[in-house]
Amino acid sequence: MSTQGVRNFRPKVHFTPPAMWSNDPNGMVYIDGVWHLYYQHHPKEAVWGPMHWGHAVSRDLLHWEHLPIALYPDEKGYIFSGSAVYDRENTSGFARDGETPIVAIYTNHRAEDGREQQSIAYSLNGGIQFEKYYGNPVIENPGLSDFRDPKVFWNRKKNCWSLIVAAKNCAYIYASDNLKDWKKTGEFGAVEDKVKTTWECTDIFPVMTEEGEKWVLLASMMEPEKGGWARIQYFVGEFDGETFHDTEKSDEPLWLDFGFDNYAGVIFNNYIKPIFLAWGVNPTYANQAPTGSYAGLMTIPRELSLVNTEYGYRIAAAPFGLDKIRAGSYPVFDGSPVLMESFGLKVAGTHGKIILKNQKNQKITISVTSDKIIVDRSRAGAQSFSEKFGSEIYSVAQTRRLAKGDVKMEILFDVSYLEVFADGGLETASMVVYPDAPYQTLIMEGDLRAEMFEL
Ligand code: FRU
Repeated sequence: MSTQGVRNFRPKVHFTPPAMWSNDPNGMVYIDGVWHLYYQHHPKEAVWGPMHWGHAVSRDLLHWEHLPIALYPDEKGYIFSGSAVYDRENTSGFARDGETPIVAIYTNHRAEDGREQQSIAYSLNGGIQFEKYYGNPVIENPGLSDFRDPKVFWNRKKNCWSLIVAAKNCAYIYASDNLKDWKKTGEFGAVEDKVKTTWECTDIFPVMTEEGEKWVLLASMMEPEKGGWARIQYFVGEFDGETFHDTEKSDEPLWLDFGFDNYAGVIFNNYIKPIFLAWGVNPTYANQAPTGSYAGLMTIPRELSLVNTEYGYRIAAAPFGLDKIRAGSYPVFDGSPVLMESFGLKVAGTHGKIILKNQKNQKITISVTSDKIIVDRSRAGAQSFSEKFGSEIYSVAQTRRLAKGDVKMEILFDVSYLEVFADGGLETASMVVYPDAPYQTLIMEGDLRAEMFEL
């Protein structure tokens, strides 16, 4: 079991597993109004272990129906992260009785020696049960110690399926006509990544901009030099149908989020916009998180876009699907009790602080200056469950602002998870906190004003 904290830390609107362990989102696909979310799951304990794919569906990405486990470990290994597609044209030949196959592609990770290969399975009953393909693996390990997390997508440039898979310190790209026979078409990252560490959970997708379509490549990675800080790096460029080229050069790596708890995120397949979900706990201390009988959560769904800033094109993220909830927002005043365990704030102003505080004097402080955003969770609540969690690296997060003037910030707080979307989502910080009592008071400093809405 993970450590039992003093309170029930389960968020209200963020996805959490019904019980036991969860990590990366997997197999995310939108089919006829239904969002399918599979996820890395250990059904017997609230800590990481033999990986299965848990499954849930939603019509609004806020209310989830939990379904039976979709994929179980087998003789080829655990079922690590991967993706799923809706094979409308039956390219795979798996269709039967007019039922369109949902095809999952995932990594088989062999526990004995860590060998990683890509396998497929198909469902003919709407993603509930899967049959594994007899010809697995469909992509054998090319001699790499890390080779995982295939993300399949429809390649409009070549009219075929393509997939991107994390391959040690970079990503490989493959193509296929039938989801079974794959040929490598490209590689990206070994030179371009300045962090030089192991890649995980890569994704690649187009985003519309004022200058036409650009492509984004996401890669999750843990920085050994920063105590294992797990983050998502991104690149902006072009996909020529076979490989990716980054065209937005930057001296520093581009990070998707400047908080501590946003990892292994990818976007949904088969939806017109890039809608992103990520695991909301840093793997460095996720096994020790004091959430008791369950572990892990997903970020709020986010729509990703590219904004042309004075520094170049950068990703902006906005909560997706919260419009109805936000409609009921009302002004709040300094010192007003927050009272709810889950709420959202729309903040305007140019400088100052937003402080969320409880009776035990535990608090989160979000500071805004003309050129920086700083989020301080060093005194936010429980820390002793993990040495890392309370250490300096994981206490205060900050970033340079990419916009000037009014910070236009949205803050979501859901029992134990904070998400800050500043400057229209150009800077986001996501982090877990475990306060001993709910934050009851909102303090505002500087010229910041806020409206509140319920979550
Ligand atoms: C990322 C990750 C993936 C892997 C999975 C195993 O958090 O390490 O690379 O497939 O988790 O649970």
